[in-house]
Amino acid sequence: MGDGPREYRTLIATNRLPPGPGVAGSLRVLAGLHRDPTAVMSELRGRHGDLVHFRIGPQHVFVVMRADLAREVLVTHQRSFKKGPGFERARIVLGNGLLTSEGDFHLRQRRMLQPAFHRRVVDTYAGIMLEEARRVGDAWSDGEPRDVAADMTQLALRVVTRALFGAELDAGAERIGHAVAEVGEFFDYLTIALLPVLLRTPLPRVQRFKQGIAELEEATARVIAERRSAGAGADGDLLSILLAARDVEGDGTGMTDEQVRDEALTLITAGHETTANGLNWTWYQLALHPEVEERFHAELDEALDGAPAGPEEAARLPYTEAVFLESMRLFPPAWGIERRAVTDQAIGGHVIPAGAAVLMPTFVMHRDPRLFPDPLRFDPGRFLPEGSAGRPDWAYPLFGGGTRKCIGVGFAMLEAKLVLAELGRRFRLRLDPSRPVVPQARVSLRPRDGLWMIPERRAA
Ligand code: HEM
Repeated sequence: MGDGPREYRTLIATNRLPPGPGVAGSLRVLAGLHRDPTAVMSELRGRHGDLVHFRIGPQHVFVVMRADLAREVLVTHQRSFKKGPGFERARIVLGNGLLTSEGDFHLRQRRMLQPAFHRRVVDTYAGIMLEEARRVGDAWSDGEPRDVAADMTQLALRVVTRALFGAELDAGAERIGHAVAEVGEFFDYLTIALLPVLLRTPLPRVQRFKQGIAELEEATARVIAERRSAGAGADGDLLSILLAARDVEGDGTGMTDEQVRDEALTLITAGHETTANGLNWTWYQLALHPEVEERFHAELDEALDGAPAGPEEAARLPYTEAVFLESMRLFPPAWGIERRAVTDQAIGGHVIPAGAAVLMPTFVMHRDPRLFPDPLRFDPGRFLPEGSAGRPDWAYPLFGGGTRKCIGVGFAMLEAKLVLAELGRRFRLRLDPSRPVVPQARVSLRPRDGLWMIPERRAA
């Protein structure tokens, strides 16, 4: 099938748009999207199938519910799509960093950042990851309820900030971390189309947000300037790698200070809430499934023999890794990926017109019974060799795909395994029955009221 505009008009005229809720139903979808987007997506999938169309005013929205179709958008036809409306708003905070930039500029930045995420480099952050896990474990007391979600957020924030700015967090770097967290809370509003209007209001929350951004820019600029004048190079942290990076495959130049700043803030933002929520859902599932928890503890006891894990041990924890992946199958931290079509593009027998928004809820795709039989059952065996044989990689788009695939996969996997190993070898976590866990899909899928759990010290 060709996919030019004329054909698109013909397809509309011949009513070849994918099924969907229609004009009246679209309003209901829009209202529900803010309240409970994952429920709305699941309902649309149930009613209308794998490719759903609705409109918000003049805006065409296509929802892709099948992983092979998402792969067509993210990989096969990636040139026909750019980042979606949410990312356009995220530029207010992240500028032109890796997550939000487009086209050749994005490719150039990706080339320069890629070496910083090489396995050899990532392994050098294992010590920081372990120290931060230990710090959390040292603060836990037997039988005393904790908001584990707050602990995981703090832990992941400190890990990525230390990996970026140096093993010793000085006051400047710590302030940057806090400001990112503060600004991040407001990030949820970035899904609101009215954000530009909101930003012109004198609401105290808005003023704090603006102040937070100004502080972030100022503090990051100062750290970068200090580093430049000290002569970048030997520190081994991510910042020194960014400062020294040259686009050797391109024009050979490096990044401006402003660019380094945008990339640093992008890495802190993209690299902490996602991993923290992946860990949250893993602790939650372990507490709900004692037989899984028992096998997880048995693997740790055997592989570690009571000692903390390093990168080599982490590589020998296949069951722990499978538990983490299975938890994120049911509760993917990045619960949906979005794009905007830049040219008309045929997907799944329909044409997505230039300008249309495309939503790809990983939350729904990960629960597809054709790829994951009995999908609501929690079964880490799906991610062990015998359970995953024959299932293609694209069936699990947790980290996206194509040139925009998550650059931090290795970082996140190492961090998660080291944290699970360090805390899991010392504690068993029970859910606090007085505080129910409620998933909430905002920028990431998180426990809305925190994750209150009771640590029980395991026998040595
Ligand atoms: C479990 C943890 C994580 C999950 C589930 C996750 C998920 C994702 C997804 C789905 C994307 C693609 C977004 C899109 O295509 O629109 C992405 C991109 C990205 N992630 Fe992650 N991520 C995780 C951890 C991390 C970490 C630890 C870092 C950095 C330290 C990181 C940095 C990034 C960056 C910079 C991008 C943009 C890449 C590009 O466009 O070239 N992520 N992530």
